[in-house]
Amino acid sequence: MKKKVLVAGASGYLGQYLVKELKRRNYWVRVLIRRENQKTLFKAVDDFYIAEITDPTALKGVAQDIDWVISTVGITRQKEGMTYMDVDYQGNTNLLKEALEDGVQTFQYISAIHGDTLRHLKIFEAKEKFVDTLKASKIQHSIIRPNGFFSDMGDFLKMAQSGRVYLFGRGDYKLNPIHGKDLAKVCIDNLENDVPEETVGGPDIFTHNQLAELALSAWRKPIKISHLPDWIRRFTIWVLRTFTSSKTYGPIEFFLTAMASDNIANLHGTHRLADYYETEVQKISIS
Ligand SMILES: NC(=O)c1ccc[n+]([C@@H]2O[C@H](COP(=O)([O-])OP(=O)(O)OC[C@H]3O[C@@H](n4cnc5c(N)ncnc54)[C@H](OP(=O)(O)O)[C@@H]3O)[C@@H](O)[C@H]2O)c1
Repeated sequence: MKKKVLVAGASGYLGQYLVKELKRRNYWVRVLIRRENQKTLFKAVDDFYIAEITDPTALKGVAQDIDWVISTVGITRQKEGMTYMDVDYQGNTNLLKEALEDGVQTFQYISAIHGDTLRHLKIFEAKEKFVDTLKASKIQHSIIRPNGFFSDMGDFLKMAQSGRVYLFGRGDYKLNPIHGKDLAKVCIDNLENDVPEETVGGPDIFTHNQLAELALSAWRKPIKISHLPDWIRRFTIWVLRTFTSSKTYGPIEFFLTAMASDNIANLHGTHRLADYYETEVQKISIS
């Protein structure tokens, strides 16, 4: 019999691709969402459960009759007064408790590339504390550490719209970003094949210079890239850490730290960033 799967974070970028891929493979799917009006995001799910992951009492029974839990829940752009510890760690721990009580077979959690080695960053401190809790629990785990999503590579595209891209250092650090659709497939493949942990990226490795060129080309702009000295990056992190809250500096600290090293994950998928950029430019041009 096909497994029953609970997707938490189903309303998010990756969550929505996961739900589509699970349904394409004929799984029974329950989604955990926060608001009634989020139901319209889904065409063919089997069950909805509406609750805040940060409210343990509201979660009671969410994992009943479920074989696999997948959680992509984490603060990305949400600005709700909660910290990474409240959501990424405690929220997911609340969900894990339900999964344990209801005898779930496997819990898959989406962290991020190098999360285990960058625990000093606010965003990873909470995510990796949850990874530790999950690994120490009696449930089978599947940890996914994705590279940057195509959706996040939109930052290069936004910068390129003005005709110039600013990079720190020489721009020769490398990464292989991944489309949500490709990542969703790997997540489910890894559950089906009992893969306990994997760092996952897209099919093409780019230097930051190449990403900038791709973004400028998508706007049909001449290639203009400015390379800023690395001390500006380090100074910006220090200023933000010193004068703003973790909600403000967390994502920027992550982005600026990721910009100063290679981020190369296992190569997966078929979607090409150049096609994604072309489509995004067309969407923006039409609207
Ligand atoms: N974007 C990247 O490049 C990247 C790369 C590597 C790893 N990741 C990680 O992958 C995960 C998924 O990323 P994504 O881009 O799909 O994120 P996303 O689109 O922001 O989705 C996050 C999900 O978490 C839920 N969520 C956030 N705060 C919540 C709260 N307080 N209570 C309950 N649910 C909450 C959101 O629900 P609502 O829709 O109701 O807000 C949404 O369903 C994140 O943990 C992210 O850090 C992202």
